[in-house]
Amino acid sequence: MKKGELLYQGKAKSVYRSDTPGVLIVVFRDDITAFNGEKKDVLEGKGVYNARVSAFFFNYLEKNGIQTHYLGMEDDRTMAVRELKMIPLEVIARNIAAGSIVKKFPFTEGQPLSPPVIVTDYKNDAAGDPSINDDLIIALGFLTPDELAFVREQTLRINLLLSEFFAELGIDLVDFKIEFGRTDNGIYLGDEISMDSMRLWDQETGESLDKDVYRFGKGDVMSAYARVVERITDEMRGGNA
Ligand SMILES: Nc1ncnc2c1ncn2[C@@H]1O[C@H](COP(=O)(O)OP(=O)(O)OP(=O)(O)O)[C@@H](O)[C@H]1O
Ligand SMILES: [Mg+2]
Repeated sequence: MKKGELLYQGKAKSVYRSDTPGVLIVVFRDDITAFNGEKKDVLEGKGVYNARVSAFFFNYLEKNGIQTHYLGMEDDRTMAVRELKMIPLEVIARNIAAGSIVKKFPFTEGQPLSPPVIVTDYKNDAAGDPSINDDLIIALGFLTPDELAFVREQTLRINLLLSEFFAELGIDLVDFKIEFGRTDNGIYLGDEISMDSMRLWDQETGESLDKDVYRFGKGDVMSAYARVVERITDEMRGGNA
């Protein structure tokens, strides 16, 4: 598939048109940023890790009945996806309190959240991705009430599928962020599911295996990401824990 016009260059991915209508090409770059772009670096190979993990989870979710934008890999950092009209929301599912929720509300870091908590932010860097509620989402025409219920239900299901998978690897899925978009056929899961978009804690050591390692300078980011990729790869081979 040929890469066409660059449609969008985000902070970590570049999105291109392809030679097939309705199909886009997403390149996972090696750029890593935190704090809304205030901290940024290039980590060689990071894009490949995130592309691999995203592809794996899109496949896994598709097998479990979730419609995703994933179509296939073009090379080890390049993904073909269904073109979506993105819904400008970051849907966040939380199983354990960590990060911004602890700063904003009287939770303690590491406090289990059961049932899981789903929150949504309006995806707008200039406004600092402010939190948004259901009434605002409907008033702004981002989702109809039925679609909002669907997105919530899909998010809970994705959370369950991912949490169960990570538990098998000895990893807690603390929280994650996903984005949805639409085609004429309905709402699809888009964007990525990677170490940039999830919080993962090693159940044994409590170590972070995600972008927090970078955010807070907690060690070697690439080796943390590599450990997630290795464990997923082992599990794919049938598990050799
Ligand atoms: N299937 C899709 N069709 C169209 N656009 C998509 C699709 N999947 C993801 N996108 C969009 O492509 C962009 C991916 O780039 P990236 O994630 O690097 O940038 P960003 O989201 O603007 O920045 P950041 O995630 O760092 O806040 C995002 O705007 C995302 O919403
Ligand atoms: Mg993004």
